[in-house]
Amino acid sequence: MQIKIAPSILSANFSEMGEAIKKMERSGADMIHCDVMDGSFVEPITFGGQMIKNIRPLTKLPLDAHLMVEHPQTQIKFFAEAGADIITVHYKACEKISDNYLEETLRLIKSYGVKCGAAVNPDVPVEKIFPVFPLCDMVLLMSVYPGYGGQKFIPEVLEKVKKARGYANKIGRPDMDIEIDGGVTAENAKIIREAGANVLVAGYAIFKAPDAATAILNLKG
Ligand code: DX5
Ligand code: ZN
Repeated sequence: MQIKIAPSILSANFSEMGEAIKKMERSGADMIHCDVMDGSFVEPITFGGQMIKNIRPLTKLPLDAHLMVEHPQTQIKFFAEAGADIITVHYKACEKISDNYLEETLRLIKSYGVKCGAAVNPDVPVEKIFPVFPLCDMVLLMSVYPGYGGQKFIPEVLEKVKKARGYANKIGRPDMDIEIDGGVTAENAKIIREAGANVLVAGYAIFKAPDAATAILNLKG
């Protein structure tokens, strides 16, 4: 399975975002991970659809919008029309609204012709999103609590990755993207890939490295 590296622009200097995006493409990134935070689902506020719209013309790489927001249905239109290639929403933001909200949101994303993903926090069993696996292009297993870059990887997520890969195979979706986000480093990338994840998000490990291209190669293994 192809391993894809998704640099998280949360760790870029926001005043030089355009250059950061181009540099990631030159350095061998496979997609650009865009952390959208609303100051409510998570404490910080980062950016909205306008950022996606502005970086869209700068790269051919897929834009991976990770929505850490409450009421994600209200935002889908903006991110889809801005040019996101995949939009991922959080189980926790959806389950507090209604039992069907996650499924409805995934269908809404797809109605724009955009790929969709469901995300779970470290304390949410991956089984909670098994019912929507058939709808998902990607599942995102958080390996830190969302909100900040540069946190320490929570190794218990590896068991969840194995379960997710096993379930994807079981339902006839061996190609499903399984994304890991948070605390990914050159040191733990191998065990993460071996557990069955194929999309590795990395902020600090790429943006704080002396050379981004080398950092990306090391994460790919
Ligand atoms: C955390 C974000 C992550 C973060 C990862 O809430 O979802 O994408 O940028 O950063 P690192 O790789 O530094 O842990
Ligand atoms: Zn993220």
